[in-house]
Amino acid sequence: MGDRVIVAEDLVKCYPRTNGKSGEKKTSKPAVDGVSFEIRKGQIFGLLGPNGAGKTTTIKMLGTLLIPTSGGATVLDHDIVKDYMEIRKRINIISGGDRGLYYRISGRQNLRFFSDLYRIPRRLRDVRIEELLQKVGLEKAADQRVEEYSRGMKQRLHIARGLVNDPDILFLDEPTIGLDPEISREVRGMVRDMSKDGKTLLLTTHNMNEAEELCDDINIIVGGKIVAKGTIAELKEAVRKKSVIEAEVRRMTPDVIEAVHSIDGVLNVACSSDAYRSILRIQVADGQDMVLPIAKRLENCRIIRVSREEPTLEDAYMSMVIGDA
Ligand SMILES: Nc1ncnc2c1ncn2[C@@H]1O[C@H](COP(=O)(O)OP(=O)(O)OP(=O)(O)O)[C@@H](O)[C@H]1O
Ligand SMILES: [Mg+2]
Repeated sequence: MGDRVIVAEDLVKCYPRTNGKSGEKKTSKPAVDGVSFEIRKGQIFGLLGPNGAGKTTTIKMLGTLLIPTSGGATVLDHDIVKDYMEIRKRINIISGGDRGLYYRISGRQNLRFFSDLYRIPRRLRDVRIEELLQKVGLEKAADQRVEEYSRGMKQRLHIARGLVNDPDILFLDEPTIGLDPEISREVRGMVRDMSKDGKTLLLTTHNMNEAEELCDDINIIVGGKIVAKGTIAELKEAVRKKSVIEAEVRRMTPDVIEAVHSIDGVLNVACSSDAYRSILRIQVADGQDMVLPIAKRLENCRIIRVSREEPTLEDAYMSMVIGDA
């Protein structure tokens, strides 16, 4: 295994589909279509992609809740189909939303129930539950029924529930969905703490700032296929290579536009002017090396600024998902 705790190889999942009228059973287009990746011990690995891309389906296969149609994976060196019992003891899944908790019993009773599913000895169970309640800040509300909890309290309980078996690997499927900015920040703090405790995390989120803040490595999935992978810096670099430089100048003539256009590496130049200034938006093949040659060509135009727009993870994500990277 080395330090690779999850290895997915060519995972495919087709959900069966029943035709409403005829009752005929068909298989649909794959929800996950040949996904391969590796996750190292202690990493926070981000799986990003639009709605319906196949993130949850991938998590369910790795979490041994769904059997792949083809391909396979190992989790902690165990096969996800053959050795699912071994895997289940050492992983857990935390998702956002309303499912997965019992609302008519208290938070503490929920944690006891889920601990018992893992057959954790009673004394250890009770000590751990106290620790978890404290960790997620629910000590005072521990004996209140979950139906009385706010959205944020429920999410904290979800997190405690995901930790009852002290898993080595946690799958976090949109853990901050629907939370206000303050609670989201708290949850991100808890995610970081889990990582510091040595756990390996696979995280999905639609919040690019969150991914940028938390993830070491990112894979972007679209239509069941991985379209990009790398560190955040690498993904940004991929769009930076085709970026935009903006130049603001006081004096502009058509021959200057042509001169800029003729620079090697300039793909396109657009110019908008008002009475006081002109703004050139210059698409270039490699943003890093183009600022100086462009500024030089604009020397006589009374430059106000020449700047390169720094790509964000969101720019990179949009570019990969829309497919113009
Ligand atoms: N139980 C199911 N039966 C049939 N099709 C399903 C089922 N679950 C998911 N799908 C389909 O599989 C595809 C992938 O869904 P999945 O839930 O894995 O996407 P996702 O990336 O998690 O999306 P989201 O960001 O909306 O949570 C979608 O087309 C979805 O409609
Ligand atoms: Mg999902």
